Amino acid sequence: MQRELAIEFVRVTEAAAIASARWMGRGDKESADQAAVDSMRGMLDTVDIDGEVVIGEGEIDEAPMLYIGEKIGTRDGEVPKVDIAVDPLEGTTIIAEGRNNALSVLAVAQRGCFLNAPDMYMNKIAVGPAAKGSIDIEKSAQENVKSVAEAMDKPVKDVTVFILDKERHRTEGGLVDQVREIGAKIKLIPDGDVAGALATGLEDTGVDLLMGIGGAPEGVLAAAGLKCLGGEVQARLVPKTEEEVQRAKEMGLEDVEAPLRMDDLATGDNIIFSATGVTNGEMLNGVRFDEEKAKTDSLVMRSKTGTLRFVKAVHKLDQKPLPKAKK
Ligand code: FBP
Repeated sequence: MQRELAIEFVRVTEAAAIASARWMGRGDKESADQAAVDSMRGMLDTVDIDGEVVIGEGEIDEAPMLYIGEKIGTRDGEVPKVDIAVDPLEGTTIIAEGRNNALSVLAVAQRGCFLNAPDMYMNKIAVGPAAKGSIDIEKSAQENVKSVAEAMDKPVKDVTVFILDKERHRTEGGLVDQVREIGAKIKLIPDGDVAGALATGLEDTGVDLLMGIGGAPEGVLAAAGLKCLGGEVQARLVPKTEEEVQRAKEMGLEDVEAPLRMDDLATGDNIIFSATGVTNGEMLNGVRFDEEKAKTDSLVMRSKTGTLRFVKAVHKLDQKPLPKAKK
C-alpha cells in the first residue's frame, strides 16, 4: 500500500467528522452516525483501493452502509487489495450530548491483517511504547498496573488508568475498586475507549494504560492505532449470549474466549490509521465551523515508519461540498 494513500484516508475521516459534528449536542445520535457513515462511504469510494470492510457498522441485513463484507473504493485496475476497519463516529452518545473525545476513525491494512471481530463486548488492556511487553490479559488488573508501573519506572501511585465509566466496572470489588485499592489514579470517562487507548501511546495525555470492557470493533481499531504508535493491546471477547458465541465462531473464532494478543488483533507492517476529532479531546480538537468553512484536526500514522502526522485543515464547504454515498 503506497504511503500517498495516507492523505486520502485523512480526507475520509475529515469528511465523516465534519458531517457528524453538525449534530453536536442535538440529542440525536442516530442522525449524527448516519451523517458520518454517508460521508465516509462517499469519500471512500473515490479512493484508489479494492477494499473490503472487516470492521464496520454491522451486518448486511442491519446496516445499509459500511457493513461487514462490503466492497469499497474505485476497485479499478491495479489498485491495492486492502481490509478496512471503520468507526465513522466513535462516540455517538458523546456527540449527541456535546461531550469530549468523539472521533471519526479508519484503519486500513493488507488483506487478513485485522481480526474479524463480531459486534460484542471485549475486555481490553492497552499501553503505549513505554510499557509494551509488560501487560498480560490473563493476569489480574492489579498485577498489570504494577507491571506497567515497573516498566515505566514510576511508582504505582503515579500510574493513571483510563476506564470507561460503566456500571460493569463499578461493582463492589470490580475493576475500579481493584485499581483504587493499589493506589493508582483513574480517569473515568463515560464513552470513547478508542481515544482512551490511543492516549496511552501519545505524549502528554497523562494516560498510562487502558483497562476494561468496551466494544470489540473498537478494540481492533485501538490495536491498529497502537500498532502505529509502537504500543500494545491485548484482549478477550466477552460474549453475553449463546447467539454471540455462535456469531464469533461463524467469524472464525473457534475458542471464543481465548486471549487475543496484539498480532491477533492487528498485524503486519503496513497499517495506515487516521482519526479526525469530531468534538474536542486530549489529542485532537473537534470540528470548528466558521460560516462556510470547517476546520479539522486529524492524526494519521503508518505502522511501517511509525511517523505521526497531525494534519490541520480548513475546508471551504461552499467550494467543495461533502461527498454523499451513491446508494
Ligand atoms: P458508540 O460510538 O457506538 O456509541 O461507542 C462508544 C463507546 O463508548 C465505545 O468507545 C466503547 O467501546 C463502547 O461504546 C462501550 O459500549 P457501551 O456503551 O455499551 O458500554
